[in-house]
Amino acid sequence: MKTLVLANQKGGVGKSAIATQLAHYSRTIGLRVLVIDLDHQRNTSRPLMAHADVMTLPVTSGTVLEEDATVEIRTTDQIVLLAGDDKLTALEKQAGNHNAFATRLRNLLKACDQSFDLCIIDTNPNPDIRYASALISADYALAPVQLNQEAIEGIAGLLGHPRFGLSKIKTALNPKLEFLGILPNLVEPTPFQRGNMITLTEKFGTRLVSEKRAGETRYGFIPKRSAIAEAQAVGQFLPELKKTAARDAWNEIQPVFDMVLSRMGFKIASEALN
Ligand SMILES: Nc1ncnc2c1ncn2[C@@H]1O[C@H](COP(=O)(O)OP(=O)(O)OP(=O)(O)O)[C@@H](O)[C@H]1O
Ligand SMILES: [Mg+2]
Repeated sequence: MKTLVLANQKGGVGKSAIATQLAHYSRTIGLRVLVIDLDHQRNTSRPLMAHADVMTLPVTSGTVLEEDATVEIRTTDQIVLLAGDDKLTALEKQAGNHNAFATRLRNLLKACDQSFDLCIIDTNPNPDIRYASALISADYALAPVQLNQEAIEGIAGLLGHPRFGLSKIKTALNPKLEFLGILPNLVEPTPFQRGNMITLTEKFGTRLVSEKRAGETRYGFIPKRSAIAEAQAVGQFLPELKKTAARDAWNEIQPVFDMVLSRMGFKIASEALN
């Protein structure tokens, strides 16, 4: 099993939307998918729980981290969800137990190793023990960003924060952690955002999600499309929404998801949904 963490301390950049939609897509192409929601806002749990192809575990993530609850893993072709809960907010204050929380998450991932191909972890937008626990045990991190000045300035912290920066976690705690990259989301074709995209590529080009095609670097990004917010609101996989706009949006997003999955070493049959 490969574990991917959606990470960015900025709120509202699309971590949960990407976690949810990528989980659906990954299942559709035949991967066995586990989703762990470490955010008490439950913006990944809620849309997944509304979907018929998702099996929600009877325990929640806060309980597993705090109490060492047993998680019974069953084989299923549904997405398996360890949903978020309100207990997650109380973990940070229990400093004496932080190591235990991180160890329990690690043990859970180990126990799931043979039963799933991909585990997607959604995190909360504050650097805390949940966020650190996820990154300490993950194989990959992906950071959605919005193309505004503040978000671009935030990337330096995402990478270089003295305690929670991806570089620090990799060197001090988890050398196997691989940063898949920065993924611009909610992208609009305005001169302002175009300018910010140029700044982003100049400053962090090698850190952006990209692929090389015929010697040319193509940067991945996800446009702002109301169909994505709608799919999240009604708990659907985007291409299942019976609307041309959803189909069009999906055709823009699928190649980006393929880029992400192939960076993690998964083989993509891009025709799967076409
Ligand atoms: N590409 C997009 N186009 C349109 N709406 C989007 C897009 N990506 C995300 N959204 C919507 O934007 C809002 C914020 O996204 P989301 O909740 O995924 O962000 P987040 O990073 O998880 O936020 P938080 O940090 O609070 O957890 C949601 O309503 C979501 O449906
Ligand atoms: Mg979220």
